[in-house]
Amino acid sequence: MMWTALLLLGLAVLLLYARRTRRRNEPPLDKGMIPWLGHALEFGKDAAKFLTRMKQKHGDIFTVRAAGQYITVLLDSNCYDAVLSDVVSLDQTSYAQVLMKRIFSLDLPNHNLESEKKRAEMHFQGSALTQLCSSMQNNLQHLVTPSEMGLKVSEWKKDGLFDFCYSLLFKTGYLTVFGAEKNNSAALAEIYEEFRRFDKLLPKLARTTENKGNEEKQIASSAREKLWKWLTPSRLDRKPERQSWLGNYVQHLQDEGVDAETQRRAMLLQLWVTQGNAGPAAFWVLGYLLTHPEALRTVREEIQGGKHLRPEEKQKNTPVFDSVLTETLRLTAAALITREVKQDKKICLSNGQEYQLRRGDRLCIFPFISPQMDPQIHQQPEMFQFDRFLNADGTKKKDFFKEGLRVKNPSVPWGTKDNLCPGRQFAVSAIKELVFTILTGFDLELCEKNAKLPLVDPSRYGFGILQPAGDLEIRYRIRS
Ligand code: HEM
Repeated sequence: MMWTALLLLGLAVLLLYARRTRRRNEPPLDKGMIPWLGHALEFGKDAAKFLTRMKQKHGDIFTVRAAGQYITVLLDSNCYDAVLSDVVSLDQTSYAQVLMKRIFSLDLPNHNLESEKKRAEMHFQGSALTQLCSSMQNNLQHLVTPSEMGLKVSEWKKDGLFDFCYSLLFKTGYLTVFGAEKNNSAALAEIYEEFRRFDKLLPKLARTTENKGNEEKQIASSAREKLWKWLTPSRLDRKPERQSWLGNYVQHLQDEGVDAETQRRAMLLQLWVTQGNAGPAAFWVLGYLLTHPEALRTVREEIQGGKHLRPEEKQKNTPVFDSVLTETLRLTAAALITREVKQDKKICLSNGQEYQLRRGDRLCIFPFISPQMDPQIHQQPEMFQFDRFLNADGTKKKDFFKEGLRVKNPSVPWGTKDNLCPGRQFAVSAIKELVFTILTGFDLELCEKNAKLPLVDPSRYGFGILQPAGDLEIRYRIRS
């Protein structure tokens, strides 16, 4: 009896969803063939491929159904900032809470993204940023000493470039931002290994509501448990940095009455937010350079030209490297920005066309597809062109056009105006420092001269900097 009632209820809900039709002024609606599920499988498998297909079919705005949810996807980059500035109609907290629960098993009901961002911005700019960068440089220099690397000077070692870059930048960032103990390299290696176990499974955790069961989820759970233990605030040495962002954040959690267990879980969230992107980005920069000899030669010449400068000056005037980094981020930064539509809302595209968003739906923007991979903005967008962001006179190129209109931002790796990554300057500085250190202090080459960059792991679209499906085998030695 109860089962029949449940079945009927389920069918009623299904029919209700299936009945949705496009109203006047709403974006084109594409429900997909499968009831309720809609396009969920294709979306989850390779979001870039799916959304590119939908863009070709419907244009710069459309609504798709995925697992019972209606998602309006906006791909007109010139109106991202204006649309997302309405924080009353478009709420970012509720979906962030869902992801926090799924990925980090974390409930922070009072989590206020606005004030979190303000806190982070305060600690990642000005004199705090200068201090952070200098501590980052010291930590990286420590990590590349022969003893830390377990390597004699001039002795070759083979590695995968992804792991090489990610482990170095993760450890550097962890020492710098989390104030961890510098002299325990075994513990540092272990925390990186566990972090990677967890990070590899992150897209799967984000896509499912059920966090128990199969083997992968158990691996993720066990990695998470270990990381929680290591990240217990009292175990981290934050004494000299009471004014640090992390110290301040923990203090805030304590003031809010957040219990000790939740504090540890929140630390893993922050570990991923601060350490999950720069390492993969450094991999793509070095990977593109190693597979594009002209780009590598030009960057080397630029570094050579700044050899006489003081360490703090070396990073300042590097237009070629800056273009290489911007081009790399254009090709690999793929965060999906999601908002919950809290009330019906009218939005206006840059061609003047107006559309109605419906309350209860989600709004997504995906800058990876437009502007970053938009063939109307960037010629041959899938190609790495190291000088794409350089003018003929060697200055930074800022002017890009689509259908005669100047594009406000030709690449959006750090998020939109209302939601910019507060750690972006620190991230750029850390990536630069790593690449410059490797190119000046090491001999680094591909094991196979004509090796190509590995393909992208398509499950990572939507989660920040992309990760490769394989690795690039390299050999390196510390220069004498
Ligand atoms: C290449 C490296 C990085 C990229 C591409 C990147 C990108 C982003 C993006 C797109 C967001 C907004 C995400 C959203 O709200 O949906 C974000 C948020 C954030 N990022 Fe970064 N980031 C990078 C590195 C870093 C680093 C190194 C730090 C700090 C050390 C950092 C700290 C943060 C923080 C604190 C937030 C706010 C998170 C929140 O909303 O609570 N990021 N980042």
